[in-house]
Amino acid sequence: NLPERVTIYEVGPRDGLQNEKAVVPVAVKAEFLTRLAATGLKVIEATSFVHPKWVPQLADAADLLAALDRAPGVRHPVLVPNERGLDRALESGVSDVAIFASATESFARRNLNRSMDEQYAMFEPVVTRAREAGLWVRAYLSMAFGDPWEGDVPVAQVAEAGRRLFDLGIHELSLGDTIGVGTAGRVQELIAAFDSPEPLAVHFHDTYGQALANTLAALQAGVTTVDSSAGGLGGCPYAESATGNLATEDLVWMLDGLGISHGVSLDALVETSVWMAERLGRPSPSRVVTARSSS
Ligand code: HMG
Ligand code: MG
Repeated sequence: NLPERVTIYEVGPRDGLQNEKAVVPVAVKAEFLTRLAATGLKVIEATSFVHPKWVPQLADAADLLAALDRAPGVRHPVLVPNERGLDRALESGVSDVAIFASATESFARRNLNRSMDEQYAMFEPVVTRAREAGLWVRAYLSMAFGDPWEGDVPVAQVAEAGRRLFDLGIHELSLGDTIGVGTAGRVQELIAAFDSPEPLAVHFHDTYGQALANTLAALQAGVTTVDSSAGGLGGCPYAESATGNLATEDLVWMLDGLGISHGVSLDALVETSVWMAERLGRPSPSRVVTARSSS
């Protein structure tokens, strides 16, 4: 039992570029977004309205959105941690936002400077106001499988955190394997801990090489939205053991093989990731990009 269609939620411009040592120029980011939209991707997370000192790589969020050449039918969600971030996002005219919570106290403290209880208090007015403004609201739940400081994170703890986020009124919850330690059995166990009509997405970093297997397990468990990053860019500056996300090309290759539609051109995507890798000065870690671009 696999879905007929999957929505690919592209995170490369945000999760990927937030982690680059060098700041990528706005014009390059804008071109990356334009090229990604031309591959057929319909949801492309663009940037974050977080504190510019916390993530200087994305301090240009407003400039980027102003420079963006918006393709019809393409959504560009942005990360907002708090009301200040939401205000900035609204000034830039966004229609989709994502809050990002932690399933553990250790990461809530490091990533948000908050306890877990404080994070929900911070998010509550963000979700309420965003919904009043007619925005679509996603929530991420990080460290949903394991945490570098706390080790294994129990399913019940993650499900409880997810429940609190749904109670705030979010439209979608993305389960984040921030440090890429999850395995397929745990993915199915975690998804089973949520009620089946709940809109779940999965967000796998590929640190331990499990992202594709985990994605297949999630699809078998009924998930139809999968996060990935073009060329496998990514990581989290506040979780050093995190490496890149599942590469969108690797995901597309698997979906094509399974006959699951997704609307994305693999060739255009590979070309885009090779172009971006040249801008960043190092090759893409994606196996599919490597296989399709070596001559
Ligand atoms: P804080 O220092 O506790 O902030 O940071 P505060 O609320 O105490 O405010 C302090 C000052 O910052 C104030 O200014 C605010 O206005 C200003 P002052 O009054 O002193 O002049 N400020 C802001 N300025 C601009 N934009 C804002 C903003 N907020 C406050 N949004 C905060 C708390 C949440 C802001 C900080 O911890 C932060 O920005 N964290 C973001 C960390 C981050 O972006 N991490 C990466 C994304 S998460 C991720 O990658 C995981 C994911 O991919 C899923 C997965 O893989 O699991 C999503
Ligand atoms: Mg991530």
